[in-house]
Amino acid sequence: MITAAIIGGTGIYHPDALQSRREVMQQTKYGAVAVTVGTYKGVELAFIPRHGANHSVPPHLINYRANILALYKLGVRNILATAAVGSLNYDFKPGHFVLVDQFLDFTKSRCSTFYEGGEAGVVHCDMTVPYCPRLRAAIVEASQNLQYEVSNGGVYVCTEGPRFETAAEISVYKLLGGDVVGMTSVPEVCLARELGMCYATVATITNFAAGISPSILTHSEVYEVMKNNTAKVRRLLLESTLLIEKQQVQCDCRRILDEIEVKL
Ligand code: HPA
Repeated sequence: MITAAIIGGTGIYHPDALQSRREVMQQTKYGAVAVTVGTYKGVELAFIPRHGANHSVPPHLINYRANILALYKLGVRNILATAAVGSLNYDFKPGHFVLVDQFLDFTKSRCSTFYEGGEAGVVHCDMTVPYCPRLRAAIVEASQNLQYEVSNGGVYVCTEGPRFETAAEISVYKLLGGDVVGMTSVPEVCLARELGMCYATVATITNFAAGISPSILTHSEVYEVMKNNTAKVRRLLLESTLLIEKQQVQCDCRRILDEIEVKL
């Protein structure tokens, strides 16, 4: 049984830490996905690099539905994701980790549901608490064990990308309550929830967002900060997977399926 999957964002492309690795080509109605399956301290885990192994897929073209459905079909019910983000909050500085708990969706052109009518049906999925409290509790516990500083809670603003934002956009997002800005958490988190899967994201601050940063933004700046934090974020997620089952915190992620019949 696969206990959890890790979806690696910018800078996290390889499942190096997994032992006895094998690659599974999982077919889905949205396309095939290469998933690495292996073990960490005896626990079976899956891994997908969200942008492809060489960061070859931009955020708006990621096949989010195929990725999430492939994990679902492999029996995965817990997903821990990483994300590189800009900061709108002066308390969250580059190199800092934020365990986001809400999102604001400013994406424009993405397929964001599995349920497009017809045989799949029409579904209005609850999104009150999008990021699973049980997985978040596991990550908090792991961060305490590892003595990593992680801010527990933050609003993730998801933009369409691939361009960075204007300074005016960032001021509006800040007024609306956004803490961090990135390009990938939506629809990934929504799709996981539509299948009753638990999902959490550890966001790594790579830069202050446009207009807050004194200089223009570059992808190399984002990549550099992620590279310096890859080992830490990877360890945090791997250790978190070992603590999922013992969490007392309840979540309602599976309850979504009380109203939805998954026919994918
Ligand atoms: N904006 C959007 N996405 C990002 C940023 C940003 O400033 N930094 C890292 N990913």
